[in-house]
Order: sequence, then structure tokens, then C-alpha cells
Amino acid sequence: MLRKHAIINMTSEMHGRYENDVLPALQKQKREPQDWRDIQSAMQDDPVYRFYSTTRYNAQEMCYLSVQPTIERNLDQMNSIAKALADKPVVGGSLQLDAELSIPPYVSQLDVHLAPGYTHREHGPDDIAQGAVVAQGGRVFTGQHPFRKSYGTVAQSVSHFVKQQFPALRPVRVLDLGTCSGKNLLPFKERFPDIDLYGIDVGAPVLRYGHACAENEGVAAHFSQQNAEQLNFDDGFFDIITSSFFLHEIPVASTKRVIAECMRLLRPGGVMVHMELPNETAVSDYENFFWNWDTKNNNEPFYTRFRSQDVVGLCQEAGFPADSTFARLIPDIAGNGVEVANACIAGDRETPPHGRGGWFVFGGQKPL
Ligand SMILES: C[S@@+](CC[C@H](N)C(=O)[O-])C[C@H]1O[C@@H](n2cnc3c(N)ncnc32)[C@H](O)[C@@H]1O
Repeated sequence: MLRKHAIINMTSEMHGRYENDVLPALQKQKREPQDWRDIQSAMQDDPVYRFYSTTRYNAQEMCYLSVQPTIERNLDQMNSIAKALADKPVVGGSLQLDAELSIPPYVSQLDVHLAPGYTHREHGPDDIAQGAVVAQGGRVFTGQHPFRKSYGTVAQSVSHFVKQQFPALRPVRVLDLGTCSGKNLLPFKERFPDIDLYGIDVGAPVLRYGHACAENEGVAAHFSQQNAEQLNFDDGFFDIITSSFFLHEIPVASTKRVIAECMRLLRPGGVMVHMELPNETAVSDYENFFWNWDTKNNNEPFYTRFRSQDVVGLCQEAGFPADSTFARLIPDIAGNGVEVANACIAGDRETPPHGRGGWFVFGGQKPL
């Protein structure tokens, strides 16, 4: 409730405060904001902003803190169930861990989005704790959110978009980069029942947890511990490569290597779709001020820099032809329903903004 209050109610109050008080005062002084940084400076010491920011920060920490005691109490049992499923998968999925993998500093050196231990910290052998903390804390995070109507809603929406937009694709394999526990990988199976699911992440605990959950749900998925900047799959192995909420967490130099890997790993005609935060140029100065909050307050140091990139340009730099690349909003399928969603995809209806019924995606198609 607190998280929802901060991100929905207080966000709207803060916008009102800006429009009705802060902006008119600046205009009166002939100091109209020129960009989001000017808005940030104007709002920084405002009590409404400060209260919002403090509440949001604390709510974020509480998402993870609130689930830790239950997980700690049940950890031994959960670890042994996950280990048994890893040793002997029941539905044909797999788990490959690499104890030698060097965890990139942008993951290991800070508690990304205030999740203590994030996705990689190991508290003991065969440990799934961080998988459970991040996944269950994530459920608290989105629990009351009016625009997150189903678990895995991003993959449900992206897979629907791919099916509508690329009807000739007939995908055999999909790869999800930074899959964590596979929340936004598994729904591809609902849309494409014959597809093989692959998910990679640098964090072993989240992969152990994700693999166990997938097996428990009866979905065969192949999880492996790898760095998305350099992957061990053969050239042209995948028909679809996707990611969600991933690229803004890594430096732009790393993003370039990831997109180059996507180009290598797609088969001709294969499609890359990354769901991400909206580009700086795609939204208003006020929204940029709102989105970039995470950079300084949520341990997401690459957020602003990522958002200022020309993402279509990054795809073209990696070899995706200009006429195949895209950056656009797609409709959230759970929130809008299939009919409205199809109208949005076809361009017959306006897609709602990112995070409020729509999602920002970008990508391209490898030439045939
Ligand atoms: C915000 S989470 C997104 C999780 C998931 N895709 C979702 O939609 O909920 C970002 C994930 O990327 C992973 N990650 C960060 N850097 C990575 C890298 N270089 N290679 C693979 N995974 C990475 C993190 O461990 C984390 O699980």
C-alpha cells in the first residue's frame, strides 16, 4: 500500500504541486525551466517533493525487508527443493551455473534498486535466497499497482506484439537477457506453445529460484549463468531475443556489447525487442525529472545516461538495418485486452504511456 501510495497518489500530488505552484512561481521570475534538470533544481527543496522522495525510498526498501523474515524461516527447505529440481528436472528444463563467472562490478558493488544483496549474493551453498527476495519483494513492489495487472505482464505484452507485428516469424527459440527468475521469459510459452525458452543472468540465486519455479509450474526453461555481454550460444541460435528492465542497469558501453551479441545470436529474420524506460526524447521535461529519480535515489547509476541514448542508433550501430529498427510504445495486454491492444499495435488507436498501460520497447530485425 505504501509503495502504491508513493508511486501513484503522491506522484500525482507532486505533479499538481509543480504545475500549480512551482512552475508559476518560476515563470513569474522569468526562470522558465529549459529541461528536466531545471525542474529537478526547482523541486529539490520543495517539501512536497521531499516527502514524496522520502516515502518512495523507504517504501522501496520495505518491499524487500517485508519478505526477508519468511524467506529466512523457510530457506533450508526451499534450498533443498530447488536443489532436487536442479539435479533432476521434472519437465525437461535445465540449470547451468558457472562458479567462475566474474560478476560485473555494476551488479556486485551496490545494492541495485535498494535490494540488499541484489541477484548475486550467496549466503550459503545452493542458495536461492536472493531469488526469493527479489521475486517476492517484486510482488510487493507491484502488488497494488493499478497498471501491473498480471505477473509477467511485460513478456505477455511483448510476445503478443511480436506475434502481431512479425506474423511470418514462427519462432523456435527465445532468449531473455537479465532474466532474473524468468518472470518475463515464461509467458512466451503461452503465446508460442512450441517455443524453447532460454534465460540468462549473472546471478546464481535468482536462476536457481527461477528454474525451480518454472519446473514447479510445469514449464521447461533453460536457465544459465552468463554475462549478456559475451554469451556461449552459437551464432544464429535464436529467433527472438528480448529483455525487460535490464539495459538501464548496465553502462552504455556494456549495452553496446549486448546489442552486438543479439545481432550475432539472431538467425536471419530473427527479432530483437528490449522493453525499457522511455527515452529522454520520448517524454516531457517533467516526466524526465520523474523518471530520472532512480539515478540518485535508487542505486541505479546508469539510468539517466541510458535514457539519454538514441536507442535506435545503438541498434543500427550493431548492424540492424535502419528500416528494421523501431522504438515505440506497445500496449499492456493484461490492462487493455486483446482487441484494444491490437488496435494500438496497428496504429488505429493511441497506446497509453509507458508504465500506465503501455511499455516502451526498441529493437530491430536481422536481415534475411
Ligand atoms: C531489473 S532486473 C530485470 C529482471 C527481469 N528481466 C524482469 O523483467 O523482472 C535486471 C537483471 O539483469 C541482471 N544482469 C545485470 N547485468 C547483467 C549482465 N551483464 N548479464 C546478465 N544479466 C545481468 C541482474 O542480475 C538482474 O537479474
